[in-house]
Amino acid sequence: MKTVLLIDDDKNILTTLEIHLEEMGLAVITAQSGEEGVQAFAEHRPDIVFLDLKLPDTDGLSVLEAIMAAQIRTYVVIVTAYAAIDTAVKAIKMGAFEYLAKPFTPDRITHLVRMIERVHSLESEVKSLRDQVRGIVREGDFLTRSKKMHGILKTARQVADSTANILISGESGTGKGVIARLIHDWSPAKAGPFITVDCTGLHENLLESDLFGHVKGAFTGAIKEKTGKLELANNGTVFLDEVSELTQPIQAKLLHFLQHREFEKLGDPRPIQVSVRVIAATNRNLEEMVKENLFRQDLFFRLNVVEIFMPRLRERPEDIPLIAEHYLKKFARENSRPVRKIDEETLRLLQSHTWPGNVRELINSIERGTVLSRKDRLTPEDLPPHIRDQIPGQERDEDLVSLSEMEKIHIRKVLARAESLEAAARILGIDPATLWRKRKKYQID
Ligand SMILES: Nc1ncnc2c1ncn2[C@@H]1O[C@H](COP(=O)(O)OP(=O)(O)OP(=O)(O)O)[C@@H](O)[C@H]1O
Ligand SMILES: [Mg+2]
Repeated sequence: MKTVLLIDDDKNILTTLEIHLEEMGLAVITAQSGEEGVQAFAEHRPDIVFLDLKLPDTDGLSVLEAIMAAQIRTYVVIVTAYAAIDTAVKAIKMGAFEYLAKPFTPDRITHLVRMIERVHSLESEVKSLRDQVRGIVREGDFLTRSKKMHGILKTARQVADSTANILISGESGTGKGVIARLIHDWSPAKAGPFITVDCTGLHENLLESDLFGHVKGAFTGAIKEKTGKLELANNGTVFLDEVSELTQPIQAKLLHFLQHREFEKLGDPRPIQVSVRVIAATNRNLEEMVKENLFRQDLFFRLNVVEIFMPRLRERPEDIPLIAEHYLKKFARENSRPVRKIDEETLRLLQSHTWPGNVRELINSIERGTVLSRKDRLTPEDLPPHIRDQIPGQERDEDLVSLSEMEKIHIRKVLARAESLEAAARILGIDPATLWRKRKKYQID
């Protein structure tokens, strides 16, 4: 409980509340009209709002409605005259927490804020117990209920407080970047920098100077001195993303650094010493690359002191609904969309898709669906066609469905690919009128 927003056009009330709440250690923001209030709410996302129902420009209840629609965890206290208790009760039915009848004493405010704090801490405790019962682990936006992943997080925590180099491997979009960041945040160097080096994409010379830096005139185009990322990461962590893409000469220089903890800037032979934790990530099989002489074995061993392997999303299907629902709420809130839930059929489709792009692909699909949806539920129509129209042969045994379910899936797939309704009916071997009836029956549009 840190920030309070006061929405009231009565200057006296604003000042009384403001002084008292600030004495209680809360940061106070004030607004004198409904419009100003809604704007300040969106900007500051306060923990508590004191809202007067009688405002000069708008009806207080519509301000309350806007606050509730934002789906941000906020406690709203309605400030009201005794005569307007009926409206206050209505406001509570709409989701306000309590009302404060005028005139009020400072004690009453203290009591209210303490009560809100107590309720808030109980609600947080219930949430975390509920997570525990369901086996859910949350680290900011990173969540999982997969046993395998719990083991990985445990390893990550254990190695975080060492200086050991870590190699994170796993398919694209499995969360390698997030784990690297968590390890840094759990490490003694958490106050230090976390610097990412993207080992793909940059031309070899550029990558070399990106990592090690250069002095003025070191090569054509080096018009200014540049500090390398290894130096910038001093007392922190350097994250070498897609490390498999390093060329042989850079691999050699990096190995030298890992052996001696010092390196040279391009164009300057004086060694620079730094204290940097190295975390590398790859979506290729580095061990195989070593066998094929594409990656130095000695460098592989140096990087791979601890190996963390991120499982694919399809190997932890229990995470699919969890992550999907989390991002659905997030995107609905950010885009003010009415969608709140994912319907069963859609969840089933999400769980039987193979997710080659892993969590990133799942998040993108949910974002797309949430933004397109105008309903309160996410339905199959909101999914990208390739997920909606899965080829039945790819389904897993536990997803075996009834004949009519299969018919529905198949019709949807054919409709998505056929040029016209007539063409779809021809492919399906039924007449267009039958197809029309079946579409209606299965609510396919
Ligand atoms: N378990 C998770 N819960 C919530 N969000 C996740 C989870 N895992 C990954 N993400 C999110 O998925 C996206 C992809 O993750 P990240 O960039 O870490 O993957 P990556 O393995 O580094 O992929 P690439 O190899 O393509 O860089 C990010 O937006 C990340 O926040
Ligand atoms: Mg990444």
